Order: sequence, then C-alpha cells, then structure tokens
Amino acid sequence: MGATAVIGGQWGDEGKGKIIDLLAESSDFVVRYSGGNNAGHTVINHLGEFWLHVVPAGIFNENTQCVIGNGVALDPNILISELDQLEKANIDVSRLIISDRAHIVFPFHRLLDSLEESRLQDKAIGTTKRGIGPTFVDKTARRGVRMGDLLDRDNFREKVTEIVEYVNILLEKIYGHEGVDLQELFDLGDEWTSRLSHSIAQTEMLINSALNDNKEVLLEGAQGTLLDLDFGTYPYVTSSHPGVSGAYQGAGIGPVGIDRIVGVFKAYCTRVGAGPFPTELLDDAGEKIRSIGGEYGTTTNRPRRIGWFDVPMARLSNVVNGYTSIILTRLDVLDSMDQIDICTGYKLDGETIDYPPSGTHALDHCEPIYETIEGWNEPTSSVRHFQDLPLNAKLYVERLQALMGVPVSLLSVGPRRDENIIVRPAL
Ligand code: GDP
Ligand code: IMO
Ligand code: MG
Repeated sequence: MGATAVIGGQWGDEGKGKIIDLLAESSDFVVRYSGGNNAGHTVINHLGEFWLHVVPAGIFNENTQCVIGNGVALDPNILISELDQLEKANIDVSRLIISDRAHIVFPFHRLLDSLEESRLQDKAIGTTKRGIGPTFVDKTARRGVRMGDLLDRDNFREKVTEIVEYVNILLEKIYGHEGVDLQELFDLGDEWTSRLSHSIAQTEMLINSALNDNKEVLLEGAQGTLLDLDFGTYPYVTSSHPGVSGAYQGAGIGPVGIDRIVGVFKAYCTRVGAGPFPTELLDDAGEKIRSIGGEYGTTTNRPRRIGWFDVPMARLSNVVNGYTSIILTRLDVLDSMDQIDICTGYKLDGETIDYPPSGTHALDHCEPIYETIEGWNEPTSSVRHFQDLPLNAKLYVERLQALMGVPVSLLSVGPRRDENIIVRPAL
C-alpha cells in the first residue's frame, strides 16, 4: 500500500496540522518532508493545544512513528525547545527520528534572512526570518551542513569552518556585519550532538521498508503549493517544494510510493507576507473573516491577508499535485457571512482566463471574476453529517467541488480534532 500525502493547497495555514493529527490516529508513520520552522501547525486535541514548527503533527498518537525527512531544513535549537515543551506536556518524543540528510539551519542563516529582508526594503518577500531560504541556498550551493555531520565531531567542525569562511565574507562585504564566531558554533554542535544524535538515521530506508510492509504512511506537507519555488507566485514564495514533488524527494520515495494525494484548502484564502493575491479583500468582509477566524500567523503572529476562494489558483494547485481528494477547512468561519464570493476566473488585458499567469506583474493586473452565493447564517461547527448542513453551505461546497473537478472527502468545521464532516471515505 502506498502513502498518503497531505498537501497545503493554497498559501499555507490551511489547517494541515489539524488534519495530520486526525489522520495520525490510523497511521503508523508521519513524515514531515519539506520546509522548516517557517511552518506553524496548530493541533487542538484531548491532550491540549499545541503549535508545532518542526515536529510532525503525528506525535500525539502513541502508536505513530514520526520522521523529520531529508527535505526539511532543520533548526536544532527549535527542535530541542519543541521537544522540551512536548515532554513537559507528557508527550513521548522518543518516537521521533531525524534524517541524517536534513540540512541544519544555523543561527547565521536566521541572521542572513533578516539582513537580506532589511536590504530589500519595500521589495522584501515578507519571510518568516527563520533562516529557511538561506539554508536552502547553502544546500544547493553544496556547502550545507547536515544532521548526519553531527555524528562525527571532527567532520562537523571541518564543515562548519568551511561554511563560516564563506558566510563571514558575505556578512562583511554585503551587509557590513562583523561576522560569526566559530567557537560558539562548535559549542552548539556539541550540545546538538549530545541531545539528538541517538535519533539520527537513514530515514528513507525506514520509510520504504514501512511501505513494503504495508504500513500506513502519512506525508505531512508544510507551507502551500502557491508558495512553491517553481509554481508559486515567484519570487514571493518559499525556498522549497511544498507539493507532492517535494513529498517524493523530501521523504525519499519512488513515484509508485504515494497512492492518495490530499489537498487541504481553506473555504476562503489567506496569505502571510508580500506577493500577488488576486482575490484579496481589503474591505469589511475581509476584516470580519480575519476577526472571526482569528487569522494571525502561527509562526510570526502577523495578521493574515484575507481573500475569497480563488478557483484559478486552486486549478494550478491541482494541475501540479494531481489531488485524489480535497479537504475543505474553516467552513464554520463563513457561517455569518451574508454573501460569499467565488473567483471563477480572471480578466487580464480584456481577456477572460481560468488559469493564473506565472508572472507577478501579470498577476497584479488580474481582476477576479466572481460568482456570488448567498450565505447560510447558521452555525455549522456541531454538524457531523453533510446532509445536516444548511442548504447554502452544501451548495457552496458542491460548487467548489465542481469548479475544481476534485471530490471533497472531508469538511472541517472547527479547530478541534473531532470537528469534521466525512463526506466520502476517499482518504
Ligand atoms: P497549518 O499551518 O496548515 O497547519 O495551519 P495553521 O495551524 O497555521 O492555521 C490553521 C488555523 O486554523 C489554526 O488556528 C487551526 O486551529 C485552525 N483550524 C483548522 N481547521 C479549522 C476549522 O475547520 N475551523 C476553524 N474555525 N479553525 C480551524
Ligand atoms: P505553514 O506550514 C504561511 C510564507 C512567508 C513568506 C514566504 C517566504 O504553517 O502553512 P520563508 O520564511 O519561507 O522564506 O517565507 O512564505 N510562509 C508561510 N505562510 N504558512 C506557512 O507555513 C509558511 N511558511 C512560509 O510568510 O510569505
Ligand atoms: Mg501554519
């Protein structure tokens, strides 16, 4: 049996953490495969309320093995503090295994992220400043240091010395910064090794043997497809591949290893950071959704930008991921809207298009074409069966499903693990 990939369909924060926590109940493995602690995944279950940045959201199920895959940029300081917090809440974290190929996010990566954002001024990407972009830059420039390097002290020190030589030139010449201290990094390395070395392994072997043994493997996406380095709203994107291609690469699975590709979409859109957002709502409706939905970033606490559901963007997301089903979250947040708009296409230079252009400039000139649905003005959070939803809520879901051409398998109507409507058992 192949794995199930759970992928952010939009610009991130679709509710992946909640869905992974739910699906982990029947999973043997949960693998985080991309991004880093730019992610913030919220889980609310019988054990409490948690905000995870690097630990997979399957950690709350005691029978699930959790893996941080090779595709993740891992900040060991963040991982250690997250493990400490989980242990304080009596969560067993010994079930976590870390790929020896995952690249290390160093404090100087965070520094570079912040300095570059300041240098860009009004052209800034609006990154999370967690050092994720600079870490992937070093990975592709082939000077990165990996978690496996922590297993040999001399080797680690040699690699760190090499990268710091480069980084200090960059810091001094581009940013006028005095540079970073090597000994501090050596000390950090010793601390990381003593705390984490027993959890470092060749995780691709583990994942593939689990698949061969017919175990249930869940691949946990971070970020969203519209932030993908190739297919997102470049350059306002993240530096990795949040979609299914990233799942194959970031877990080390071949093309037949994934059976189900589940796209998680909010019932509307949000975006944190800069970049094109054709359906953005700068009016009272946007303010109302932000306030009802508590739309503030899980990682940076920035207010999330709000917009109506964007079908052309969802089409792109489906084209590059090939969803087998869709999960729609936060339907309840729309409960008190009088009218709900769906963007079915754009007007660009007098033409009607139903698929987004690739360039930022063109996207900024796309005018959304809307179809309006009457609101339902009834609470949905306690509904558990599709037929019990208000008529207009059903019409809304059915219309989105028809426009995207992908079946909806689950509706999420609240942040807690059990606040769901199973539409069809396609997971
Ligand atoms: P992720 O990054 O995709 O895991 O999503 P985040 O955790 O950053 O943001 C999603 C937010 O929505 C969190 O605060 C969740 O607790 C919340 N959430 C998830 N599903 C639902 C839902 O169906 N309804 C409501 N009201 N909140 C939800
Ligand atoms: P989860 O997993 C929402 C956004 C940032 C910025 C852009 C680049 O919680 O859905 P980066 O720090 O990655 O270089 O920033 O990507 N971004 C996210 N937005 N949710 C996330 O993760 C995000 N991770 C990065 O806001 O616009
Ligand atoms: Mg998030």
